[in-house]
Amino acid sequence: MIPDLSQILDEAVQSPASLTTERIAFLLALRGEEAHLMRRMAYEVKCRILGKVVYFRGIVELSNQCGKNCFYCGIRRDNREVFRYLMPPEEVLAGAEFAWRSGYGSMVLQSGEIQSEKFTDYVESLVQEIKAFSGGELGITLSLGEQTAETFARWKSAGAHRYLLRVETSDPALYGQIHPQDSRHTFAARMASLEALKRGGWQTGSGILIGFPGQDELSLANDLLFLRDFDVDMIGMGPFIPHHQTPLAEAPFDPVLQMERGLNMIACARLLMPEINIASTTALQALSPEGRERGILSGANIIMPNLSETKYRASYQLYEGKPALNENAESSRNALQKSIESIGETLGLNEWGDSLHFHNRQKK
Ligand code: 5AD
Ligand code: SF4
Repeated sequence: MIPDLSQILDEAVQSPASLTTERIAFLLALRGEEAHLMRRMAYEVKCRILGKVVYFRGIVELSNQCGKNCFYCGIRRDNREVFRYLMPPEEVLAGAEFAWRSGYGSMVLQSGEIQSEKFTDYVESLVQEIKAFSGGELGITLSLGEQTAETFARWKSAGAHRYLLRVETSDPALYGQIHPQDSRHTFAARMASLEALKRGGWQTGSGILIGFPGQDELSLANDLLFLRDFDVDMIGMGPFIPHHQTPLAEAPFDPVLQMERGLNMIACARLLMPEINIASTTALQALSPEGRERGILSGANIIMPNLSETKYRASYQLYEGKPALNENAESSRNALQKSIESIGETLGLNEWGDSLHFHNRQKK
């Protein structure tokens, strides 16, 4: 039998291990006042453990070329409507310099999945140059898909220290339903890359695509337990938003429900993993203008402002209505800082803002 909500929440705050699959599924299904209560508790945990601080990670979407064909994604290989680009180094470095000058402390390089020697070399030299001009100060997170252990090792030697690779779903059968059935899209390969990252000493982030067809609360609860058991240092996860040029274009979609799901997942993740970094992702902002602030108030502590030049943004639409199409990095920085301060949080400037969980894991 499931005890009442306040008992579940009290026990979760006392001991995150009290959160069983059933309890998490119950919390994920909350709506209205009860959901607000749960999110408030998660926010209190964030404030108590990590402080009233939000870290910015400027993100540069360095290429939208991708060898994959994920059914949900707007830049999948078979979408011929997309203009494909690879940023020249000076544009990537301009984004990095902006992040550094703005005191962001850390940045993210993201792209579609490109597995080639040329790309590996390119990223390696970019990381080296960013480290060099910032005197090693700017932290670098990579989010460049599945790669071999050798490639990961080269990028780590160059100076990157965190890697984000979403598992999307921890259920291999569901994974098979949202990806083509071929050797390029196997759950086993995704797991092998995640394992390689952890073995390679990276601060490792993963996450979930929330609310795609076939997924339910029980499955999402298992996803959160999977992330805990995998011992992730960071989570980046966001609600699924259909894109019209993909096989999932006609999937059922209710923006209000997707927002509720996204916020509940953040809150449950925080209750379950008090010390990790959790991003309030852009997909929340796509659903509602104050989506990212609501993510913070549900327990997230990271925001990833887009630093890509405006001319590329229309070509990096993973989902419909991705925001800030016409904004540039400068204008969005000030607006974002104001809105973060308006909810009583401060900006963690000029420090990497590493996951507390990672540091505690290193000590062990
Ligand atoms: N809706 C929301 N998120 C998406 N992503 C890809 N397509 C979509 C979509 N339609 C996310 C995936 C991927 C990340 C880079 O973007 O989770 O890991
Ligand atoms: Fe490529 Fe990532 Fe999109 Fe899949 S989700 S098609 S790997 S960019």
